Amino acid sequence: MQQRTHTCGVLRSEHIGQQVTLVGWVRTRRDHGKLVFIDLWDREGITQVVAQPGVSNGANAVARTLATESVIAVHGTVQARPPGTEHPVLATGHIEVLAHKIEVLNEARRLPFTPDDHHPVDEMLALRYRYLDLRRTAMLQNLRLRHRAVKIMRDFLDAAGFLEIETPILTRSTPEGARDYLVPSRLHKGTFYALPQSPQQMKQLLMVAGVERYFQIARCFRDEDLRADRQPEFTQLDLEMSFVDQEHVLTLIETLITRLVRDVAPHKQLLTPFPRLTYAEALARYGTDKPDLRSEMPRATPNLLAFAWVIDFPLLKWDIQNGRWASEHHPFTAPKAEDLALLESAPGAVRANCYDLVCNGWELGSGSLRIHTRELQLRILRLLGYSSERAQANFGHLLEALDHGAPPHGGIAIGVDRLVALLADAESIREVIAFPKNRHAVDMLLNAPTPVEPEQLATVHIRIARAPDKRFT
Ligand code: AMO
Repeated sequence: MQQRTHTCGVLRSEHIGQQVTLVGWVRTRRDHGKLVFIDLWDREGITQVVAQPGVSNGANAVARTLATESVIAVHGTVQARPPGTEHPVLATGHIEVLAHKIEVLNEARRLPFTPDDHHPVDEMLALRYRYLDLRRTAMLQNLRLRHRAVKIMRDFLDAAGFLEIETPILTRSTPEGARDYLVPSRLHKGTFYALPQSPQQMKQLLMVAGVERYFQIARCFRDEDLRADRQPEFTQLDLEMSFVDQEHVLTLIETLITRLVRDVAPHKQLLTPFPRLTYAEALARYGTDKPDLRSEMPRATPNLLAFAWVIDFPLLKWDIQNGRWASEHHPFTAPKAEDLALLESAPGAVRANCYDLVCNGWELGSGSLRIHTRELQLRILRLLGYSSERAQANFGHLLEALDHGAPPHGGIAIGVDRLVALLADAESIREVIAFPKNRHAVDMLLNAPTPVEPEQLATVHIRIARAPDKRFT
């Protein structure tokens, strides 16, 4: 096969007369008597190919047999489309390639569905053949948009002096509210790693290390019930800074989001500066801590991304089920200095240095200033019902670090999947994740989770007490 000379998105009238080689997939084939038309696509666009007997009987014969989504190489000449047959919406719509030779690089068998934005298929089928579904223009656009959004985040934070640092995936359980995914240890019988629900403690430890400004495009894992905006594994833009107050964090994120929207979704509108509501105001006015500010703006354009900050969350909430106080955010969140005196007398009245970023009714991010002294961290853990022994067993490493010169610090994590979904007008974060799980946390393409061989289980010292669910056997 000769190297391609052009992608399927670039040929224009100025190329007329040139000899070109295109490669790509057959989106459609139309037989018009002796002429055969092919829409050839690749990720850059679609070009019409015409195979005409007399010009090349060989190309014409091959074209007649082409199955949809087969991969081909076309050698031919760019020519103007006959007047009246131009396709004004298509960037390549004024030209076509008259084929001299068509090579079939790989013929596609009958497809379970054709990737087409206008004929949605059942989502379970789409996920089962995700690589076909991703061929849809809308999906490819979402992947592109995600790539660009993440690149802007990286460039922006790099310029602001942040270091991108990877933290472990095999780690230990963090108390962030959801269930952990566990990984059995082979070397240490009966013990388990946990996949991180977030890099929360590691990023705080990086502040103790003197890193000052950390970020990570961090994969997080939570075994919770799924919804349109929740996946068992998802991505956070996670960051942490030393020697900052709340204002620093909010301003940084606001600048970043404004730049992101301007660069990747310029048609979207923002309310700037982002409105701020206290938790109490959000509840009183909107009845939720994830307010959709558009509900009070009857004439808001559909392109409005109504970002807002919710601040001054309570530090604790009463956990009715267990009859004790629980963290509203997480146990490392610092109480407001002016409320410290209430900690033991009226814990429910203590406000936290904690902030949420919301947009159009979605919670996009959460962060806080952290506790950076051992005494205060222990005081909070005690309020949460931890005995000294349990506090030491669970958080000894952190308490110790706080004693070894921990600077004041704070940060935030933004849900990348949710942010990109909003920028892409996607209804579910599944539309902006290349290979998402379905609503039942199943990977339909790989068919995971699966039972494993008894030998594998024996290696990690595990015996299964109950037979696996039918679906997986
Ligand atoms: P939090 O638990 O609020 O905070 O998570 C931060 C953001 O991550 C996104 N998110 C999710 N996205 C998709 N699927 C999920 N299952 C899911 N769970 C959370 C949301 C959410 O706002 N360590 C703290 C942050 C900090 O204090 O700096 C944390 O993880 O957009």
